[in-house]
Amino acid sequence: MTRVLVLNGPNLGRLGSREPDVYGSLDLDALQARLEGEAPEQVEIDLRQTDDESELVGWLHGAVDASTPVILNPAAFTHYSYALRDAAALVTKAGLPLVEVHISNPHARETFRHTSVISGVATGVIAGFGFDSYSLALTQVIRSLG
Ligand code: DQA
Repeated sequence: MTRVLVLNGPNLGRLGSREPDVYGSLDLDALQARLEGEAPEQVEIDLRQTDDESELVGWLHGAVDASTPVILNPAAFTHYSYALRDAAALVTKAGLPLVEVHISNPHARETFRHTSVISGVATGVIAGFGFDSYSLALTQVIRSLG
């Protein structure tokens, strides 16, 4: 069994009711069900959400220790968290895929969202496709697993 971590940052626990015009009307349970339906049988989806930067950093350390590939929606931390960037760099420097995803297209939004401090250390970035961003990331992670 291969585990794929799907990590979600602050305010993404509010998906479903949070700005549905931007993020859609589905919640994280729906995302989990969707990804589980799409993953091959031998791939386990471990989807988590936190509003806490240090918890997210700890989960990335755990990914390194357990050699787990990561799909990461850093949410607002995308734009300013150097601690998260350094933790994400540990994952990719360990040779593990880390795909940065966004539901919306941050580049089509406010200027402060145009900067990602994570992208420079991510394996790749997928943004703007709603929950499809996660599905595309999962396809890519599975491909990289061989
Ligand atoms: C987001 C985009 C971020 O700018 C924002 O802070 C989020 C969600 C997205 O998935 O589109 O919380 O990461």
